[in-house]
Amino acid sequence: MMRVDEVLRRDGVPADLRSVINHTLIGCKEIAHKLSQGELAGILGSTENENVQGETQKKLDVISNEVLKQVLSQDPGVRGIASEEEDNTVACNDEGKYLVTFDPLDGSSNIDVNLSVGTIFSILEAKQPGSGDNMDLFLQSGRNQVAAGYVLYGPSAILVLTTGKGVNFFTLDRHIGEFVLTKEQVRIPEDTKEFAINMSNQRFWEKPMQEYIAHCLQGEEGPLGKRYNMRWVASMVAEVHRILVRGGIFMYPWDSRDPSKPGKLRLMYEGNPMSFIVEQAGGRSTTGREDIMDIQPEDIHQRVPVVLGSKNEVETVMRYHQAG
Ligand code: AHG
Ligand code: MN
Ligand code: MN
Repeated sequence: MMRVDEVLRRDGVPADLRSVINHTLIGCKEIAHKLSQGELAGILGSTENENVQGETQKKLDVISNEVLKQVLSQDPGVRGIASEEEDNTVACNDEGKYLVTFDPLDGSSNIDVNLSVGTIFSILEAKQPGSGDNMDLFLQSGRNQVAAGYVLYGPSAILVLTTGKGVNFFTLDRHIGEFVLTKEQVRIPEDTKEFAINMSNQRFWEKPMQEYIAHCLQGEEGPLGKRYNMRWVASMVAEVHRILVRGGIFMYPWDSRDPSKPGKLRLMYEGNPMSFIVEQAGGRSTTGREDIMDIQPEDIHQRVPVVLGSKNEVETVMRYHQAG
């Protein structure tokens, strides 16, 4: 059984980048442990604070953020971090080459009901000198990512990682405290009959999304000619993982509930890392109109519509957008 670091060495990943990944994973193992303790560790429930995006922070959002911030700032290779739960970018080590963006806990609404949550991370190189609290260093398109991954905390804890050489799965072996390789070069099936979208927002979507989902619901009698199944876990990590395992399409499109927000999900620590993973596994990822990784970010907390998964199905959704 190969451990993560052995796989990264084999793949020629430089030592300083391996170190950043390994530090991130130390944090994820700590989060996995706290999650497994649940009520015993007094970690369920909400805080009285809101994050910069106006969302009430769960205790575990805050704890997970602190865990990752602490462990990453100990790595001399990390210049700075950006997190969903930090208003601004945070400086770590001025000599560091790498910038890490992360969603410390994705799917927070699942915590108190004991369902799947995850951690998402993305690693960029700092292209200029300067302190890691300078947001401009981070504002690079997703195409510049040197690594991206997530850990899904489900019945087992699974790490999904890419450094641009395909996508591998690792399962946390709690006896040895290491993620070990359990599936190599994962490929997303190109076709699917399974979609994931929060249907309760239907009336707020744009016309192309309304039409595509209406046609999915018509099944084999409609223009798409197939009977669909639907899933919604309310954790992007869990949805993307299902898609990597058996195909599917996941959508969190733009909606008009709050016209100032171009989507719900955040580009730099949700959209981009997931897009990198999905594309590396042969899938596609788009806003409906452009590839997510081609977007030039203007803010670390920028939001983006997301449509990702099985290649042919995502391209079908893109055609609805071209037409309408
Ligand atoms: P987070 O918990 O990090 O704020 O992200 C939750 C996201 C995403 O994981 C999920 O797909 C979506 O929000 C769920 O949204 P709904 O509450 O609209 O279902
Ligand atoms: Mn999230
Ligand atoms: Mn989160």
